[in-house]
Amino acid sequence: MYLPQETIRRKRDKEVLTQDEIQSFIRGVTDNSISEAQISALTMAIFLNGLSKEECVHLTLAMRDSGDIMQWKHLDLPGPIIDKHSTGGVGDTVSLMLGPLFAACGGFNPMISGRGLGHTGGTLDKLASIPGYNPFPTNEQLTEAVKIAGTAIIGQTGNLAPADKRIYAARDVTATVESIPLITASILSKKLAGGLDYLVMDVKTGSGAFMPTPALSEELARSIVSVGSGAGLGLSALLTDMNQSLAPAAGNAVEVQCAIDYLTGKAKPSRLHEVTIELCAEGLLASGLAKDLDDARKKLNASLDSGLAAEKFAKMVHILGGPSDILENPKKYLAQAPVKIPVKAEKNGYISRFDTRDIGLAVVALGGGRLRSDQVIDPAVGLTDIVELGQEVVQGEDLMMIHAQSEKDAEIALKMIQKACYIHDEKPRALPLIPKRISVQDL
Ligand code: URA
Repeated sequence: MYLPQETIRRKRDKEVLTQDEIQSFIRGVTDNSISEAQISALTMAIFLNGLSKEECVHLTLAMRDSGDIMQWKHLDLPGPIIDKHSTGGVGDTVSLMLGPLFAACGGFNPMISGRGLGHTGGTLDKLASIPGYNPFPTNEQLTEAVKIAGTAIIGQTGNLAPADKRIYAARDVTATVESIPLITASILSKKLAGGLDYLVMDVKTGSGAFMPTPALSEELARSIVSVGSGAGLGLSALLTDMNQSLAPAAGNAVEVQCAIDYLTGKAKPSRLHEVTIELCAEGLLASGLAKDLDDARKKLNASLDSGLAAEKFAKMVHILGGPSDILENPKKYLAQAPVKIPVKAEKNGYISRFDTRDIGLAVVALGGGRLRSDQVIDPAVGLTDIVELGQEVVQGEDLMMIHAQSEKDAEIALKMIQKACYIHDEKPRALPLIPKRISVQDL
């Protein structure tokens, strides 16, 4: 029996917590015998004094064990369970393609996704723009989707990592969200409760990223790889650029359309393609489905070209309640906004910078995202045809299209976007798309 106040005192005084006392604290968080005040005091002590890798592994595993852990062994799947987690961004359509790509290459990907909050979009909101798609399937539907489609992108069901919910709620109102060990344990405990064997982390860096500086993005990636491997996961992380929307579209239905165009070979936006393939390649390598990264890339490109990845996506959508012909007739199903207006370049020059966070907030202002968790999403609105950093433009040329429900909404978004796009006379230095790869060997 450990007194929570003693655990708090020890962390306050920079002592190292034991596995037993961390487990005891998390049990108290889960059964409500520990108060909000005590959770907040411990998270502030961790925020200020940090956790060692071992403490963070113990915290992660205790939080994972605070609720249900999804089991896949009984399905006898003929391949590994692989998943990806992204710290979130604008136009980050990757998950919609990555699950089907893993599946097409012999992996299985039950992906528990979240709804969007703030400037970043959520995969679940994107899929909700497909009529009938049920992200909360029955066990039978979920099993069928995982077995047959090899991928099921679903919402959080049951009681996964409930300790994280209480701890996160306390952190949110006590200025302790921005703690690398707490973020690490929060992300990994939920992922581990999904029952995966291998994980690829996409840690965004840049003006639309959750972490405010590249150095902190890298620190988070290193922490997750180190703690994740300590918790028994095979994993690696890529730092990927979020100084602009990853896809040429940002919103919900518009991103689903973009993913369908990609999977069916109609369009292959180069940055989106590279990040998707590189994240998938990491997963195939970690899980033994490819002998090296080049072999992984070849397999992934072949499954795109053959249409197998597209087929997996279509199967997942249909098994989870969506239409059977989403690939053939996406326009029949995906909502279209009635008002479309372009954002025009105000002068000649090169696109030198985006305030990507503000571009994401323009999508929220259109109704395509939420600032409070109870807000309802409009699937139809968003941005398409977004120009890229470094692109030369002439005055009056379109920088992107706004899709809105009304002229008034479109005008509000237009003003926000105009302030978030910068045009300069000189061509900017190109930023690396994937500045760093971090594997266990690099720690
Ligand atoms: N995302 C999470 O899931 N948890 C955090 O603590 C921060 C971001």
